[in-house]
Amino acid sequence: MSERLKGKVALITGAGRGLGRCHALALAAEGAKVVVNDLGGALDGTGADRTPADEVVTEIKAMGSDAIANYENVASFEGAEKMVKCAMDNFGRLDILVNNAGVLRDRMVFNMSEQEWDLVLKVHLYGHFNCARHASTVFRQQRSGRIVNTSSSAGLGNMGQANYSAAKEGIVGLTRTLARDLGRYGITCNAIRPMAGTRMTLTPELKAAWGKSMGVSGADLDNFMKTIFTPPENVSPFVVFLCTDEAANINGRTFSVMGGEVHLYSEPEYIKSIYTKGTWTVDELCELVPVSLASGLENPTPPKT
Ligand SMILES: NC(=O)c1ccc[n+]([C@@H]2O[C@H](COP(=O)([O-])OP(=O)(O)OC[C@H]3O[C@@H](n4cnc5c(N)ncnc54)[C@H](O)[C@@H]3O)[C@@H](O)[C@H]2O)c1
Repeated sequence: MSERLKGKVALITGAGRGLGRCHALALAAEGAKVVVNDLGGALDGTGADRTPADEVVTEIKAMGSDAIANYENVASFEGAEKMVKCAMDNFGRLDILVNNAGVLRDRMVFNMSEQEWDLVLKVHLYGHFNCARHASTVFRQQRSGRIVNTSSSAGLGNMGQANYSAAKEGIVGLTRTLARDLGRYGITCNAIRPMAGTRMTLTPELKAAWGKSMGVSGADLDNFMKTIFTPPENVSPFVVFLCTDEAANINGRTFSVMGGEVHLYSEPEYIKSIYTKGTWTVDELCELVPVSLASGLENPTPPKT
């Protein structure tokens, strides 16, 4: 333990299992005191259980670090306020927020219910805002703070995940703006798109979908899954790094973190343009766009013949 985060206090949401648990242990290993938030529900967001958060607190205490459990729901504005208060009341400060809690309600868009849309947006996008909103008032007064948000490569487009990908790409936009709102106060906000083997990814449905899309099965599919979904512990060192003083100038960025691979994403920019002096006519666009802006573009899912 190098104790880079000695004296710091970290709040990690969804820290009872999977990636959040590993982030909590890794931050504690660097000397941070930890608020282990987890509602403890099922993958689809139903139910609640205090055991996951309690167990991680026990693990952290066994390491000789300090931690406290919190069971609030990130989807609640007041719940997020209580999480921050929990850090202040028990440890006297808050330095790090890792927004990580998440659920899934996958469905093709034409079958998706309003409730499935709302729940996923509430937990991921509202959850990130709720916690950042309350943490940022403390960070601003302190003139320091770190926020690490959790997006997903699904935000770049993933079949059957309209709610999840909308929320996850919303988190990237939120990250860019929080970086601009808060940077002047010595606060940074960055996002990761992780990839790891957890209960969210090691499901029979996902395995079958990968097998179908890659055209592999049996032992080949098992090996492929192990290569893509490596243990969640692999993601946490980069999250910890983003919380250190060494990362003070990294703000508003998005990284892919998968096993030993870390990638910095480019920021969107124009890649082709067309201009006219007045207003384009539809006839002009029909003639020009296919051979200019749209030239070389591929339809990700062309119509089935
Ligand atoms: N595992 C991956 O490969 C992967 C890929 C991309 C993104 N992610 C994202 O990483 C994050 C963690 O995912 P994971 O794979 O560890 O999943 P996980 O299901 O193992 O862990 C998520 C935790 O969040 C908690 N949680 C859910 N809703 C909550 C709420 N409303 N309030 C508080 N806690 C809540 C759950 O109880 C659970 O312990 C999620 O945001 C997920 O979308 C994961």
